Parts: sequence; C-alpha cells; structure tokens
Amino acid sequence: MVSVIFPAAGQGKRMGAGFNKVFLKLAGKEIIRHTLRRFSDVPAVGELIVVTGKEDLSHMQTILREEPGLKPWRVVAGGSERQYSVKNGLAAISREADIVLVHDAARPLVSRETIEAVIRAARLSGAAIAAVPEKNTVKIVSGDGVVVRTPDRRTLWAVQTPQGFRRGILLRANERAEEEHFLGTDDASLVERIGTPVHVVRDRYENIKITTPGDLAVAEAFLKEGAK
Ligand code: CTP
Ligand code: MG
Repeated sequence: MVSVIFPAAGQGKRMGAGFNKVFLKLAGKEIIRHTLRRFSDVPAVGELIVVTGKEDLSHMQTILREEPGLKPWRVVAGGSERQYSVKNGLAAISREADIVLVHDAARPLVSRETIEAVIRAARLSGAAIAAVPEKNTVKIVSGDGVVVRTPDRRTLWAVQTPQGFRRGILLRANERAEEEHFLGTDDASLVERIGTPVHVVRDRYENIKITTPGDLAVAEAFLKEGAK
C-alpha cells in the first residue's frame, strides 16, 4: 500500500498572507484540496497523511471534509522544520504501507503521470524523486560574493516532489539524520546519507511549489491551460 505524507505545517513567510499558504485559494478552492485531489485520483494511493500546524488542525479537517471522494486521510501536527513535520507524518502511517511518498502540500499541480512514475521507481529501486533539468546556469558562490565555480549544467537537476521510498529506507534515513543532527531541505538528502542510491524521475516544469504571491498567478495560468 502507498501512503502519502503532505508536509503542510509551514508558516508561508515568503507568501506573506499572514496564515498558512496552503489555505489560499486557487481557482476558487484551497491549495491543499487541489493537492489531495490529485493524489486521490491515483488508484495505487491508499492513504493521505496531512501534517499541519497545531493551531490549524481543526480548520484543516473542516476543509478536507468539504472535498468529496478523497482517499482515507488523517491530519497530524507538524514540527518547527519540514523534516520534523515529515517525521510526525511517518509516525502516523498505517502498518500496511510499504511505499511512502512525501509531497509538498504547496505543489497542487503535480500530474498523475509523475505520481505513478515515482511510485513505480520507488518500488523498483527503493528511492526515487521527481526533478526537472535545471534551466539556469548555476554558480557556487563564496560567503563574500565571489564565484567559486560553475558546475556543468547538464548534470544539474532541480528537485521537486513527490519523493518516494520503501518505508524502511525512509525510516532509517530519518533516524540517522536525527542521531547526527542533520537537517535536510528534502527527504532524499537524508536517504543519500545512508548510502542508498536515489533515482531521478523526470517531472514537468508545471509542478511548481507555490512560494511567493506571483506563483499563484502562474499556477492559475497552468490550471487554465490544462483545462483546455
Ligand atoms: N512545511 C512543514 N513544516 C515546516 C515547514 C514547512 O510541513 N516546519 C511544509 C510547508 O507547509 C510546505 C512544504 O513544507 O507545504 C514546503 O515548504 P515551504 O514552501 O518552505 O513552505 P513554508 O515553510 O510554509 O513557506 P516559507 O518558507 O516561505 O515560510
Ligand atoms: Mg519554508
């Protein structure tokens, strides 16, 4: 069974709405409902674990009850860092889950193809992440603002979510990170540290993370384009 954890316990500081950005509306309905809808439309997905701030637990439940036809879902409290929120989500998945996906609640445009490809690759290899080839030239820059070097762009991938893992791998990676006081910005970086190869699944550029106000307009445009 596939269990999906949705970190949604951030504060949305860069969005500046004054509340959790996953409650902002996109095409008339909350971002979190779009996100959960997309995963609920994938037959292999068995359950949805939404991790949100303590103060938002009941509001989240109210909103999710309004969305018809969701896969079985649960709402749990998150932590001060995304990694801690994922850890709380991991503690809440059901025993039958053999594959665990982690997906940013703030990525409502994820495609069914990407979700299914990440599930397939995670089953096959143990760890897989959605990513797109980097479009920009990226430079490593020193603390005092001087370019150190320019990595070959052909080797650079911008990482998105979902990221999928065999349950035991993600659990072990999380425990190890905690023991070593390592804080990662994604889940795969924890898995890389235990030596498990992480496979890349090519995603679409449309699967953006809604981060700043301009991203909302971009997401609306992508939604309209998809509806045509
Ligand atoms: N997240 C979380 N727990 C945290 C921090 C983030 O569950 N302690 C979640 C966010 O809710 C979001 C996802 O991780 O769905 C990606 O994080 P980000 O885009 O950084 O969202 P925020 O942390 O809310 O935004 P900001 O960094 O601008 O405050
Ligand atoms: Mg954040």
